Amino acid sequence: MDELILAIESSCDETSVAVVKNGETICSNIIASQIKSHQRFGGIVPEVASRHHVEQITSCIDEAMSEAGVVPSDLQAVAVTYGPGLVGSLLIGISAAKAFAWANGLPLIPVSHMAGHIYAARFVKPLEFPLMALLVSGGHTELVYMEEDGSYEIIGETRDDAAGEAYDKVGRVLGLSYPSGKEIDRMAHLGADTYHLPRAMIHEDNFDFSFSGLKSAFINLVHNAQQRGEELSPNDLAASFQASVVDVLTEKTVKACQKYPVKQLIVAGGVAANQGLRESLQEKIGELPNVELVIPPLKLCGDNAAMIGAAAHIELKKRHFADWHLNAAPSLSF
Ligand code: KG4
Ligand code: ZN
Repeated sequence: MDELILAIESSCDETSVAVVKNGETICSNIIASQIKSHQRFGGIVPEVASRHHVEQITSCIDEAMSEAGVVPSDLQAVAVTYGPGLVGSLLIGISAAKAFAWANGLPLIPVSHMAGHIYAARFVKPLEFPLMALLVSGGHTELVYMEEDGSYEIIGETRDDAAGEAYDKVGRVLGLSYPSGKEIDRMAHLGADTYHLPRAMIHEDNFDFSFSGLKSAFINLVHNAQQRGEELSPNDLAASFQASVVDVLTEKTVKACQKYPVKQLIVAGGVAANQGLRESLQEKIGELPNVELVIPPLKLCGDNAAMIGAAAHIELKKRHFADWHLNAAPSLSF
């Protein structure tokens, strides 16, 4: 019999509900983005996010069930992101998942948002262990070593800003709307790396990252030029910033894949949608004969519930269930 999981994700600014079959097939994956409501504030307003989740969650559940053509008695479990993320946003998803699970006599599976990002790769192909995951999102930049399903060792992480956060802050200086990663990526392909911004920690013997110095160097460059009345090319600025981020992420990731005996490199999180990063890793990981690069398709790189359903499949096999006291864990890692 097929295993069907209803998965709910509401950790940040996307309300998403999916039905996932056997941890590898997406039957439905409804994503209601609130980005337009947050854009005028230049970032996410937690209270606004929670209110949107409340408004959206019930219709997203209905839509996910009807698009998948299933009824509650077809399901084996309900999975929900319980962290990391915004506490108010997480609680909406958790409350909805508890209510649905309780009403239908289903077990409740708590899932880490970060594990979900990694398991988005499961929709591309089966994971082969040991593997390395480069997790790059608005809140995280981490290299994670996995020896088997459900085992996560963070071998390196950012000491300050996350990669996506740096994109969004630099985007504000360029006058772009939030979130600006996608637009900077597009502009970068039209410009050249002419400003030679710093590549922090690139030669250090560890797997940590730092992006706040790069962000400051970028802001200083723009402000100094403004004071001198000079015009800088926005496309060249975007290309220079992106070259620095991509060089550091690629260099450290390749080193990690050489040091650890990995069969696959998974790139996950919103910044995994970055074309510059995808191209650079394709080239450099392509030079390592034993490592296969697996990157989820663009629409599964950002926040979505299907990835939570894929991660939940592993937890269901282990019967890792939560009770009705499940709470949000805003700073959970895995
Ligand atoms: O994983 P995600 O959807 O949400 C979090 O869990 O944080 O990641 C969102 C982040 C934002 O910072 C956004 O600017 C960035 O991913 N992003 C990109 C691209 N698309 C989204 N950054 C660089 N290049 C892109 N193409
Ligand atoms: Zn995310």
